[in-house]
Amino acid sequence: MRVLAVASEIYPLVKTGGLADVTGALPLALASVGAETATVVPGFPAVLQALSNATVIHRFADLFGGPAAVLRGNAAGLDLLVVEAPHLYARDGNPYLGLDRQEWPDNGLRFAGLGAAAAALAAGIVPDLEYDIVHAHDWQAAMAVVYLHFHSGPRPSTVMTVHNLAFQGRYRASLFPRLGLPTSAFSLDGLEYHGDVSLLKGGLAYADRITTVSPTYAREITGIDNGMGLDGLLRRRADMTSGILNGIDDTIWNPATDTLIAANYTRDKLVRRAINKTALQRHMSLDQSVEKLLVGVISRLTSQKGLDMLVDQIDTLVADGMQFAMLGSGDPWLERAFAAAADRHAGSVGCTIGYDEVLAHLIQAGGDAMLVPSRFEPCGLTQLSALRYGAIPVVSRVGGLADSVIDANPAALAAGVATGLQFWPATPQALRYALQTLLVLWQDKPAWRRMQRNAMAAHVSWRASAHRYVALFESLLGDRP
Ligand code: ADP
Ligand code: GLC
Repeated sequence: MRVLAVASEIYPLVKTGGLADVTGALPLALASVGAETATVVPGFPAVLQALSNATVIHRFADLFGGPAAVLRGNAAGLDLLVVEAPHLYARDGNPYLGLDRQEWPDNGLRFAGLGAAAAALAAGIVPDLEYDIVHAHDWQAAMAVVYLHFHSGPRPSTVMTVHNLAFQGRYRASLFPRLGLPTSAFSLDGLEYHGDVSLLKGGLAYADRITTVSPTYAREITGIDNGMGLDGLLRRRADMTSGILNGIDDTIWNPATDTLIAANYTRDKLVRRAINKTALQRHMSLDQSVEKLLVGVISRLTSQKGLDMLVDQIDTLVADGMQFAMLGSGDPWLERAFAAAADRHAGSVGCTIGYDEVLAHLIQAGGDAMLVPSRFEPCGLTQLSALRYGAIPVVSRVGGLADSVIDANPAALAAGVATGLQFWPATPQALRYALQTLLVLWQDKPAWRRMQRNAMAAHVSWRASAHRYVALFESLLGDRP
């Protein structure tokens, strides 16, 4: 089976969040269960630099305002089809924002260009390349699904995966005539959304199947609280929708072989983990004590992630005797609030503002726990790595967090299956109570060790989920349009 994935980010070339981790890891996981993937990505400077063995396989005379080429090549073990369109993608900044942190005003066209190029490839514009499935990731790729829906002639089946419904690719109606679609597409059943154009809505309306990145999030988005205004459409399409939990790349995230941490360890050699704790405490200027409960945070700092609730409670939690190691970036007020907490609590709160992959590994290996207090979380990857590294995840009971952590309630503790703590509702008080409960568990060292070992044995790799994707793709082969 041949899959054409479409995505705006792919680890390790371009990453702003977990989307890139998934699009980077899934092709390798699918390959191990018999599905080959090529991924269509925009020709951002970082992608073009990394590309090797590139050959031009197609040229577009005009792709939304300028000439473009599709380059086929490899980077980081990935088979890529790169849309080289300098007028759309040759810019400094991140994939969506300029250096001034403002969205590029032509993002609608930039990602319609990605979708149009991918749809043309899927529809056979290059004779030797044929695909069974088009797998579109998030709003940036949704137009591939839309263009294929309106393509006359044979085409692969389409799967639209939602990584985060909060990002929809919504633009003014004036974008619509430039997309080259039939006018019928600008309707309640198509891309029209409260008088605007929503690229994601188009993908959700026209995809043969919809998936999202956890079973619980698949249910949550059909309700008004988490549907982000698309719950009506998602309820209508519920029979076509399923949730497949993400995994992590267990070659990158493996405490037994990780070269970015101070000491390697396994479930059976957990004592060596303390070396990482000391290294982390030293790195973040925390008091060096093995006895203190050290809670890690690695996150984008946005309201989704709920870390304002930690800011609210941090004075009390430090007074209770906890330490915090926080790595993140995002909303300026939250960055300032964490920096201020670190000043107020020197030795107990460490704070690094920015993006730092090496430190992220050390926090997973050296922290005793990992806090993920999201208000909503389609899947979440940091709690999966935390499980693998024996950093006990403390999570709000939403989306993929609910699906991946076994709460240490009395029944789970008695049965010896707990892997972390869940709390609900997502309020500062519930967060504080959860961390205080964790502190009580921390005092019982044998019980803590048992929980760490359970966590490290949890299935967080892509293996099971790769099989689920292949099963979904295979179910579509019969009804190829
Ligand atoms: P989201 O995609 O919503 O931000 P996920 O948990 O799915 O959340 O994925 C986040 C990814 O980004 C993880 O791989 C996490 O380790 C990483 N990450 C987030 N913030 C940072 C940071 N400041 N430094 C390094 N890695 C980070
Ligand atoms: C999004 C979600 C996150 C998920 C990631 C990868 O960024 O916010 O929960 O893990 O996509 O699917």
